[in-house]
Amino acid sequence: MNTVILFVLFFTRHVLTLPEQVHLAFYTSPWDISVSWITFENAEPSLTYGTSSKSMLNVTGTTNTWIFGGITRHSHVVILKNLNPSTQYYYQIDSRKFNFRTLPTDLTSYKVCVFGDLGVYNGRSTQSIIHNGIAGKFGFIVHIGDLAYDLHSNNGKLGDQYMNLLEPVISKIPYMVIAGNHENDNANFTNFKNRFVMPPTGSDDNQFYSIDIGPVHSVGLSTEYYGFEEQYGNASIFTQFDWLTKNLNEANKNRESVPWIVMYQHRPFYCSVEDGDDCTLYENVVLRHGAFGIPGLEQEYIKNSVDIGFAGHMHAYERMWPVADMKYYKGSEAYHNPVAPVYFLTGSAGCHSSGMKFSPIPMPWSAHRSDDYGYTVMTVANTTHIHFEQISIDKNGDVIDSIWISKDLGHFHTNKMRENANGKMFY
Ligand SMILES: *[C@@H]1O[C@H](CO)[C@@H](O)[C@H](O)[C@H]1NC(C)=O
Ligand SMILES: *[C@@H]1O[C@H](CO)[C@@H](O)[C@H](O)[C@H]1NC(C)=O
Ligand SMILES: *[C@@H]1O[C@H](CO)[C@@H](O)[C@H](O)[C@H]1NC(C)=O
Ligand SMILES: *[C@@H]1O[C@H](CO)[C@@H](O)[C@H](O)[C@H]1NC(C)=O
Ligand SMILES: [Fe+2]
Repeated sequence: MNTVILFVLFFTRHVLTLPEQVHLAFYTSPWDISVSWITFENAEPSLTYGTSSKSMLNVTGTTNTWIFGGITRHSHVVILKNLNPSTQYYYQIDSRKFNFRTLPTDLTSYKVCVFGDLGVYNGRSTQSIIHNGIAGKFGFIVHIGDLAYDLHSNNGKLGDQYMNLLEPVISKIPYMVIAGNHENDNANFTNFKNRFVMPPTGSDDNQFYSIDIGPVHSVGLSTEYYGFEEQYGNASIFTQFDWLTKNLNEANKNRESVPWIVMYQHRPFYCSVEDGDDCTLYENVVLRHGAFGIPGLEQEYIKNSVDIGFAGHMHAYERMWPVADMKYYKGSEAYHNPVAPVYFLTGSAGCHSSGMKFSPIPMPWSAHRSDDYGYTVMTVANTTHIHFEQISIDKNGDVIDSIWISKDLGHFHTNKMRENANGKMFY
């Protein structure tokens, strides 16, 4: 063997063990953060981290090797535990260096970037999300399904490309994900399960989980259990539903310290877009209302006084009036002590197919809609106030819709309230 061949072997080996697609996520709390990355040849799942380059600790995590489309990938994860608030951390994996800052101690006034439906091609919001995320305009991201279009395309290489494209921001602020229909890789969501590490508080395979961040109890659910019931069976629908009833029941016991409940899901309950369905298709009705022994989700949100729900899937932005069981409560007072959950559709980040048409007439629960590309920034101000802004890419990052949702401490919406409100205060 001559030196040239040796050099080539060494170089190839090195590149295949070089970490890529590096990203962060909250684990069990804002102070436990998972660092994940992929290599194409096996490598130590270890990194060094610390608050200065002089005092770096070596931590070893775990490796999960998986094969998709004939390609072997090694997903590595290290959990950084008991981090301090408002602290700059540095970390190094192999030769690659990164840093991030933890959220502030009291966890008030933190901002979350929320969107669904962002791909590699036509990813109109990508540069804005990278730029503003790095600049600290929001503390973390929640991507409510339909990633990359698709994570599994071209044997997963498009997923690799997407994660590398986003790496500058998602290696610096946590990137929380839930599954959309495009995460169905006909291999039981293999790519979605193996590329991410979401909080281990629910399904343990990223499909459903919850996490408390300051005054907000956040819950991520799979609507794809409903969408792909025929392909994968109905067992997961029931498992998730049982978990959700218990989870919301527990969250309600803790409402004095964590008063807000925010839901994240891919397919919406409500929307007014012209996709031939207006969220009235059979699959949406089953998801919301349930049918033939399959439990729907909306009653759980209503019963447990869920405050806010985010969804994507329809490639537009739409803010709803408080709505429960298709009864809506509109007017200038509707967002103070709302008598029903308030839903935001935010699926316009930029997907492979451009644009989406609205129905000619909005549904009566629609308060504002826009088909600009963009994403939502939610500012959790405190235990009584949350602010929402819709950023338009078409209008150079301008805020095209903003609203405060506020409630008195202890506010819990009930059927009685809805009966009283119906036809009186709001219409
Ligand atoms: C960290 O520890 C692992 C496991 O003991 C070891 O293989 C690796 O070389 C160490 N890394 C550094 C930078 O010390
Ligand atoms: C899909 O994967 C989950 C684990 O993530 C497993 O519980 C379930 O049984 C699988 N479903 C099918 C149809 O293989
Ligand atoms: C769930 O699936 C099982 C197995 O296919 C079936 O026997 C059962 O009737 C289904 N339950 C409902 C409520 O659809
Ligand atoms: C909560 O935030 C709102 C909006 O910034 C502010 O008006 C209100 O005074 C705050 N409440 C408390 C208790 O800090
Ligand atoms: Fe979708």
